[in-house]
This record gives sequence, structure tokens and C-alpha cells, in this order.
Amino acid sequence: MYVSKRSANCHQEEVIDIFRSSERNNKKANITGILLYSDTLFIHYLEGDFDQINQLYDKIKTDYRHKHIFIIEIIPVKERKFPDHPMIIRSFNLQNSIFWHLLDNEDAKSLQSILEQYSQTGDKILSMIERILYLH
Ligand SMILES: Cc1cc2nc3c(=O)[nH]c(=O)nc-3n(C[C@H](O)[C@H](O)[C@H](O)COP(=O)(O)O)c2cc1C
Repeated sequence: MYVSKRSANCHQEEVIDIFRSSERNNKKANITGILLYSDTLFIHYLEGDFDQINQLYDKIKTDYRHKHIFIIEIIPVKERKFPDHPMIIRSFNLQNSIFWHLLDNEDAKSLQSILEQYSQTGDKILSMIERILYLH
């Protein structure tokens, strides 16, 4: 799981391109996960074989569409959270106060601290991701 800053020149079309190539490539590599994006941020949770994830991460980290990539956590997991989805993609709007109201306190705190200093544990962020998914 990592967090990164969305580049200013990463427009909606670029995000759609990311989604298209991810669906294709992740399916082949048996990688699943979810990418959340806002105007300024990506939060990406990936699951799969360690080597496959590493290979993918080598590509992702050089991608011009984001910067300041910060790895939150790399841990072995027994079960996948999103076994049927090579790439779920969801937007979230940090400017929308309704969005913040919909998050419970714990999730809002997690998100706030990601925005401020990326200081959260993977499982807290994951529960926040699932909450954001559920809001849609
Ligand atoms: C935030 C972000 C997340 C990405 N996630 C993935 C991903 O999960 N899978 C993937 O194949 N490419 C992902 N990419 C795109 C890769 O950096 C790269 O452009 C793409 O894999 C190239 O695909 P291609 O070799 O099929 O053209 C991501 C890019 C960004 C900026």
C-alpha cells in the first residue's frame, strides 16, 4: 500500500488510461486491489504475489502521473480483500464536506493523518478504504 501525490498534469483522461492498463496488466499478473484518487492524491492498495507486486511497483514508481510516493506498508496477507478485481478505482473529493461527514471519526482521522504526514498503519487505512468504497 502506498500513497502518492497526483501530478498537476494528470488529468481525468490519464486516470482512465491508468485504469485501462491496470485492468489488463493486473489480470495477467494476478494482482488485485483498489486505487482511490482525489484531485491531489492517490491511495493504492495492491495484493498479489510479492515478486509480481515488486515488478509492478518498479513501473509505477517512475510514472510521471504522480510523485512523492510513500509506501505505507508491505505485509503478507492470508486472504485477499478484493479477490475478484484486478483494479477497482474510485474517486473521493476532499473539498466536499459531505464526504468528510460521511466518514466516521476514526476514518476521518486516518485520512487526515495521511494528508498531513502519511502516519497511519496499513490496516487503519485499509478500513478507511473499505469505508470509502461502501460510501459509493
Ligand atoms: C497511481 C498509479 C497507479 C498505477 N497502478 C497501476 C497498476 O495497478 N497496474 C498497472 O499495470 N499499471 C499501473 N499504473 C500505470 C503504470 O505506471 C504504467 O504506466 C503501466 O503499467 C504501463 O502499462 P503498459 O506497459 O501496458 O503500457 C499506475 C500508475 C499510477 C500513476
